[in-house]
Amino acid sequence: MSSQTTYRELNGVECGKAVRARISAAAAQVHAKRGHAPHLVAVLVGEDPASQTYVASKVKACGEVGFRSTLLKEPADTTEAALLALVDKLNNDPSVDGFIVQLPLPGHINEERVTLAIAPGKDVDGFHPQNLGRMMLGLPGYLPATPNGIVELLKHYEVATEGKHCVVVGRSNIVGTPMGILMSRNTYPGNCTVTIAHSRTKDLPSITRQADILVVAIGKPNFITADRVKQGAVVVDVGIHRLADASRKSGFRLCGDVDFDGVAPKCSWITPVPGGVGPMTVTSLLMNTLKAAQG
Ligand SMILES: NC(=O)c1ccc[n+]([C@@H]2O[C@H](COP(=O)([O-])OP(=O)(O)OC[C@H]3O[C@@H](n4cnc5c(N)ncnc54)[C@H](OP(=O)(O)O)[C@@H]3O)[C@@H](O)[C@H]2O)c1
Repeated sequence: MSSQTTYRELNGVECGKAVRARISAAAAQVHAKRGHAPHLVAVLVGEDPASQTYVASKVKACGEVGFRSTLLKEPADTTEAALLALVDKLNNDPSVDGFIVQLPLPGHINEERVTLAIAPGKDVDGFHPQNLGRMMLGLPGYLPATPNGIVELLKHYEVATEGKHCVVVGRSNIVGTPMGILMSRNTYPGNCTVTIAHSRTKDLPSITRQADILVVAIGKPNFITADRVKQGAVVVDVGIHRLADASRKSGFRLCGDVDFDGVAPKCSWITPVPGGVGPMTVTSLLMNTLKAAQG
């Protein structure tokens, strides 16, 4: 007997469209009420191609929902002091509802110092310790964009989470760790029993095979193969990589941390790459910016 299931896609483009329609309507209300649109500023330091692409998609998304956006491009040799001065200026600029400093920053700039300098009330990436602490305590604040986008995706497709074993592979401050916290909260989506795995985890396949919901954020292309996934699992792939592909006009193709072709037939739900978590990260940033503008 075949063990194949017919999987369904957790489609971040489709879900993002639905959420963005609601954001757009709310943005029009904010605009009408106070006379100007929600305003997001994105600071990009240097020329990292992936960062340029991410920031461009964030700026474009702002336009699509009726937000104002400003892209501030700073040279790669910008000093930490100059960047901190810019952060301070944005913190005190009443025309700016929220802003992000795109990571990673060049090596000579301390990311932690920059993140800490952002006013928590304008930290729409949700990376400031105050916002992470509020998330931890279940208090209102800005949730980190990628985990929150995943939560929205699960909600949109009404994926059952209560009582499930959620395994998160990766423990970064911006994805894996907050993801684990959100999935263990006493709410929907949540109420999971959570395991967080990382590079020191022993016998990772035996852990991932126990997952009803598997969230993978490790940054290694096609790392999770079918033998590491339980039949019927929900799989969320956060990774995004460019692999050289001479058969494509662009010369590359995108893939995630999960071997989609091998894993998908075992899943009940799975995110595609591209078109899964990526668009939801951007949508989540818009949600936070709207919240900032609503005051
Ligand atoms: N789609 C999106 O919107 C979006 C947003 C953010 C990130 N991403 C992508 O998601 C991926 C992860 O991002 P990140 O910022 O969380 O990465 P990160 O900061 O590099 O963290 C990677 C995590 O994976 C763990 N890990 C690495 N190798 C492992 C292994 N062999 N077995 C088990 N765990 C392992 C690391 O463990 P240790 O802690 O022990 O080192 C670490 O906790 C990247 O591909 C990134 O580009 C996508």
